[in-house]
Amino acid sequence: MGKEFLEVRPGGARLFPGFFDQKQQEDLRDIIRNAVNQAPLFTPRMPRTGKPLSVKMTNLGAIGWVSDETGYRYQPTHPVTKECWPDIPDRLLNLWDTVTDVGARKPDACLVNYYASTAKMGLHRDEDEKDLTQPVVSVSLGDEALFRLGGPARSDKTQSFKLRSGDVLVLNGTDRLAFHGISRIYPGTSTLLKHGGRINLTMRVAD
Ligand code: SIN
Ligand code: MN
Repeated sequence: MGKEFLEVRPGGARLFPGFFDQKQQEDLRDIIRNAVNQAPLFTPRMPRTGKPLSVKMTNLGAIGWVSDETGYRYQPTHPVTKECWPDIPDRLLNLWDTVTDVGARKPDACLVNYYASTAKMGLHRDEDEKDLTQPVVSVSLGDEALFRLGGPARSDKTQSFKLRSGDVLVLNGTDRLAFHGISRIYPGTSTLLKHGGRINLTMRVAD
């Protein structure tokens, strides 16, 4: 691991503030823009109720995470276009190798979340993956966000910290199954995305 990180909690989440510099963030933004042209953002819906979530999403990789009336799942194709997801770009695969421990498998899924200025994400755990010992690596691009990190139970106390454009957060060890969410976006805090808002890229070993 060749980069400085903060242990948000010993043995658990690691934050790499400013992992990507401005030019690298612009390159990533352009890569994601191309991928979104191929696999457009769609609005996920809550299981059972079908209520729309406030984020829009798409995926990269062999399988992608989707949510609709029938539940949460990973699937190999886009729910609207029915096409395969675009590949995970090399620079994200390289990021994975840099920030995860030796022995981690390669990611096969990268969720792309887009938050407009009023979007949020409720507290949840990433638990739809087959091997829950593998880390989760996420990248923030665009406007700042307030991230909330709790414990393994929904009722556990949470701590909040900001995620800024270029930051990388790794959920592993004792925090791999921690509840987490996005409480709010701070509009106008970044010029990276032409129309504002925030992109979050979350890589996982899903299958
Ligand atoms: C997620 O948990 O899927 C996204 C977290 C984030 O947007 O930082
Ligand atoms: Mn999550």
